[in-house]
Amino acid sequence: MQSIIRQAQPIDAQKIAEIHVASWQTAFCGIMPDNFLEQQETETRKIGWLKNMVEYPGNLSVIEDNAKIVGFVCNGLTESKQLGFDGQVFGIHVDPTAKRRGYGYQLMLASFNRLQSLGCKNAFLWTLEKNIPARNFYEKLGGKIVAQELKDFGGRELIEIAYGWDRLDLIPKTQNTPRP
Ligand SMILES: CC(C)(COP(=O)(O)OP(=O)(O)OC[C@H]1O[C@@H](n2cnc3c(N)ncnc32)[C@H](O)[C@@H]1OP(=O)(O)O)[C@@H](O)C(=O)NCCC(=O)NCCS
Repeated sequence: MQSIIRQAQPIDAQKIAEIHVASWQTAFCGIMPDNFLEQQETETRKIGWLKNMVEYPGNLSVIEDNAKIVGFVCNGLTESKQLGFDGQVFGIHVDPTAKRRGYGYQLMLASFNRLQSLGCKNAFLWTLEKNIPARNFYEKLGGKIVAQELKDFGGRELIEIAYGWDRLDLIPKTQNTPRP
């Protein structure tokens, strides 16, 4: 069955939270402090995403393959045009057991399409400087480094890098087919 991307519903919050925590504990291991990662709780994330769905309807989407959620993305208008950009991808996570099958790519293209439909001409996101796989992913999508800042994660100051896309209309609209 072909994968589909759809708006998240409250019933999806548990699975989204499970992927979120598993993704942090996998991707940020060795970057963020171990005890901080161990403290990440599915229930807290679930409550956060349920609140997000109420406060920012339409921002959160999931990608399903064979009726199973394998990733999610949150995007929307930036607050006060941060860094001069109209739109922002606030977070993207693919189930750690389902990476490198094209799901992340599809979620990013869907995000760019949605942001354009909201009137955004450009968009950006923050990622950890040490998150090399994600940086490769964004660079493959044409993202360019536009800023950096320091942020505290569990008592450790880490550099975050902003990747920007100046022209969403120039990003190819075709989507990968997930590989088996
Ligand atoms: C980053 C992430 C969203 C990418 O999603 P994904 O489904 O694994 O990526 P895709 O399969 O769509 O990859 C598309 C292309 O990006 C590049 N890419 C993706 N992951 C990569 C990696 N680990 N190393 C190098 N390049 C990578 C490749 O060019 C890839 O195409 P290819 O597989 O044909 O070579 C996903 O790996 C993830 O959830 N990571 C952990 C959480 C995270 O870091 N989120 C971002 C926080 S800002």
